[in-house]
Amino acid sequence: MARVVLEKVYKSFPSRKGENSPESSPNANPKASGVNVLRCINLAVEDGEFMVLVGPSGCGKSTLLRILAGLEELTAGNIYVGDRAINTLAPKERDMAMVFQNYALYPHLTVYENIAFGLRRMYQPQEKVSQTWPDRVSVWGKQLLSRSTRSLPPQLQYLSPTDQTIRDRVRTVAALLQIENLLHRLPKQLSGGQKQRVALGRAIARSPQVFLMDEPLSNLDAKLRAETRSQIVKLQRHLQTTTIYVTHDQTEAMTMGDRIAVMNQGEIQQIAHPLELYNQPANRFVAEFIGSPPMNFLSVDIKAPLLITHPQFRLTLPETWLEALRPYDGRSLLLGIRPEHLSLGPAAVKNLEVTVDLVEALGNDTYITTHLTQEPETVLQARLPPDTEVIVGETVWLSMNLEKILMFNAKTGNAIRFDPLLK
Ligand SMILES: Nc1ncnc2c1ncn2[C@@H]1O[C@H](COP(=O)(O)OP(=O)(O)OP(=O)(O)O)[C@@H](O)[C@H]1O
Ligand SMILES: [Mg+2]
Repeated sequence: MARVVLEKVYKSFPSRKGENSPESSPNANPKASGVNVLRCINLAVEDGEFMVLVGPSGCGKSTLLRILAGLEELTAGNIYVGDRAINTLAPKERDMAMVFQNYALYPHLTVYENIAFGLRRMYQPQEKVSQTWPDRVSVWGKQLLSRSTRSLPPQLQYLSPTDQTIRDRVRTVAALLQIENLLHRLPKQLSGGQKQRVALGRAIARSPQVFLMDEPLSNLDAKLRAETRSQIVKLQRHLQTTTIYVTHDQTEAMTMGDRIAVMNQGEIQQIAHPLELYNQPANRFVAEFIGSPPMNFLSVDIKAPLLITHPQFRLTLPETWLEALRPYDGRSLLLGIRPEHLSLGPAAVKNLEVTVDLVEALGNDTYITTHLTQEPETVLQARLPPDTEVIVGETVWLSMNLEKILMFNAKTGNAIRFDPLLK
């Protein structure tokens, strides 16, 4: 197990016709030419931590994982595992195991052989080094015997000491993942979830210092996904292996990660514990990406520190905002409010008059999609109790939970922080 550190990591691919590196970014690497896919990534994953990398498609998550695994070269920067810089090490020397989205199982090998495959490669070089010539000849003979009896019934198989170690390891891992009864099957005889567990088993069996998982659940249906999700978390807690898990699914990120790193366009936007990310997003991108349905935004003006004005409403924020909003007096800001912090309220100056466009009754909750009556382009979504009776086309008033309002710089998108200790 080990701490993994990425220090100012950049990656650029040669540009194709019509593609340019975004020169305007403050983190653009002057040394890099081509398309900058990763820009100044700084990330420290603690020993035994479950770190989730989340971000929209194409933001560079897989590239980052492939760089860690040694499958892709970095353009600039350093990667450390423990005290060791691993930039120049070959993938097999990095002691990391990667689980891919498409499982990547060998179709002609049984589940047992798929799990044992990596272990054989791991043990064989050690055997070679540790033996003199006459010993080696005898080992080769035994290996030949072991290989040629592998497909026979167990009682007729010859097992060398290494084979026995491998067998014990495969069985332990199979028991952990509850796939003992599948060991003799070929991948084509397995369901998606079972294949996924075999792929995990193959990674676990090697006892690597680091697990790298790239969207390992995306081929599973919703139920199996939820089941496997909790299984992976339990397993990781049990094994305590440093894990970097990539997903674009924010529910997975929120429920699995000790911490989450949110990425966008090759840059890390924020690294934080799940609830911190949810309650105190660093910027508009994180606020919108984490949470479903996403946060609502309204353009407002700030007057006399705490007064918020908008053509359709005006309200006074709690005192906690006093210092944070002082520099913005007379300026425009973005107000962010999550759907669950809106509720039906009376007609009032501080409330929002909206027209209902869509009602989605999910049984446990009712989501409504609305627009401001005087500003049809401003869409607001609200999460309401399941028994709420609202119909499409109706005009209703929405009330904001003032304690839950967030403010963002309209230009940069950065969150304006207030001091929670003042609460
Ligand atoms: N070998 C390559 N050559 C050129 N561009 C590449 C190469 N590999 C990836 N890219 C580009 O790098 C960007 C990041 O790709 P990456 O696969 O890391 O995204 P991702 O975040 O994993 O997305 P997804 O969620 O869709 O898997 C994309 O714009 C992709 O087109
Ligand atoms: Mg990817």
